[in-house]
Amino acid sequence: MASRKRVFDLLRTIDRVSCQCPAHGFRGNFQVSYETPVLDYAFEIKSSTVRYGIGVTREVGQDLVNFGVKNVCVMTDSNLVSLKPVKEVLNSLTKNGVNYKVYDKVRVEPTDTSFKDAVDFAKKGKFDSFVAIGGGSVMDTCKAANLYYSDPEADFLDYVNAPIGKGKPVNVRLQPMIAIPTTSGTGSETTGTCIFDFEEIHTKTGISHSALRPILAIIDPLHSMTMPEKVANYSGFDVFCHALESLTAIPYNERGPAPSNPALRPTYQGSNPISDVWARFCLQVIQKYFSQSVYNADDLDARSFMHLAATMAGVGIGNAGVHLCHGLAYPIAGNAKTFVPKDYGKDPMIPHGLSVVMTAPAVFRFTAASDPEKHLEAANLLGADITGKKKADAGAVLADTILKYMQKMKIENGLAELGYTKEDIPSLVKGALPQFDKQRLLQLTPLPQSEEDLSTILEESLTVY
Ligand SMILES: NC(=O)c1ccc[n+]([C@@H]2O[C@H](COP(=O)([O-])OP(=O)(O)OC[C@H]3O[C@@H](n4cnc5c(N)ncnc54)[C@H](O)[C@@H]3O)[C@@H](O)[C@H]2O)c1
Ligand SMILES: [Fe+2]
Repeated sequence: MASRKRVFDLLRTIDRVSCQCPAHGFRGNFQVSYETPVLDYAFEIKSSTVRYGIGVTREVGQDLVNFGVKNVCVMTDSNLVSLKPVKEVLNSLTKNGVNYKVYDKVRVEPTDTSFKDAVDFAKKGKFDSFVAIGGGSVMDTCKAANLYYSDPEADFLDYVNAPIGKGKPVNVRLQPMIAIPTTSGTGSETTGTCIFDFEEIHTKTGISHSALRPILAIIDPLHSMTMPEKVANYSGFDVFCHALESLTAIPYNERGPAPSNPALRPTYQGSNPISDVWARFCLQVIQKYFSQSVYNADDLDARSFMHLAATMAGVGIGNAGVHLCHGLAYPIAGNAKTFVPKDYGKDPMIPHGLSVVMTAPAVFRFTAASDPEKHLEAANLLGADITGKKKADAGAVLADTILKYMQKMKIENGLAELGYTKEDIPSLVKGALPQFDKQRLLQLTPLPQSEEDLSTILEESLTVY
């Protein structure tokens, strides 16, 4: 968008001309100044160690022996505890003589109350390590349990993202944690984030700090073979949006201010050439394998590629970040009243991937003006023919491409089908605003957005087809 670009160009010019002497001047991208520039000029990529391979879970017991730990807290949910993925982890632990206790009460789409229950369990044991085996709900709960186990005096809100909590940095040493994902999926195995529904205000928020990142992510595609159809479908749309949002997030060098100390560079830094590689790979995998992986449950190739793509998108978002679809998804999921999805139990809830994709067509129609070429490229990677398409078409082309996927994958027809009406929109906007605080996603949205813009996006998402 011309006006935004002009503002950034101006800021850069001010930055450059502030001192032109050889010791302090900017020369192209070369930063030789010791003064803090207005906009950031650097990005960094952090990730857990990622190990990928069919059947690689058998190594987890040896890893724990190699770490020198003796007493492991294994976390999972009540469904997975009787399935093959968890059995394989426990077999490997037993075979390698590692002591463990299992917590299997993780809540699907966790809340502050369910996080605290897991923390209480951890505090009752003398654990020197954690293993999470499950989807994002399990991995996130395990990160929180590890944090508050390692800092037993902390108040729960100390570490929760501002402005809801105090957003305190983590200065205590956490126990080593291994994450083994079973959905394809959140990418939580490589991120320093854990998300929960804060019941008091009916919206999701989280805790974000690199110290929460698991030290090892074991990616075993065999675990994805037991995923029910709807779990594969909705968690696949989470990967879909992670890739699209990290690719279209504000570029790292248009986000500011630059940190005065590298330790203060935010976890989520905006799109950058390395995260873009992950995102592009994911979009290509989605184009080739997504629907096959959902509808041919025994297609190991398709499920393996989606499982890998989920982790790769996780590395992308773990550094670039996400923006509007996720920011708006938090109150959408937090206010679920009547929708009971198949394959997720009996309680009303809106699975994360579903809450995220609901607004995607409207969001990318809105953000396309920020970088039409990148939006067209994304549509093309997802299979759209963009021959002869103009920059002005970018939003419509990407939105139509997304809608085709949603229709093919039988995604519910908009927020109305999840139980929302036009009257709910002001409270959804209100619930979304904390996510757009300067600490979080606002910095990453490629265009400035007003409350009115958020309302329009939600209104357009009431019925999508
Ligand atoms: N920390 C992060 O970076 C991050 C990123 C995105 C989302 N999230 C969070 O992750 C959560 C969603 O996680 P999710 O989508 O992975 O699903 P989930 O962990 O909520 O699991 C969904 C359901 O699928 C079942 N299941 C999972 N794997 C299975 C398998 N292999 N076989 C049979 N059943 C299986 C579970 O038992 C559960 O009933 C949300 O709370 C969301 O906010 C976190
Ligand atoms: Fe997500």
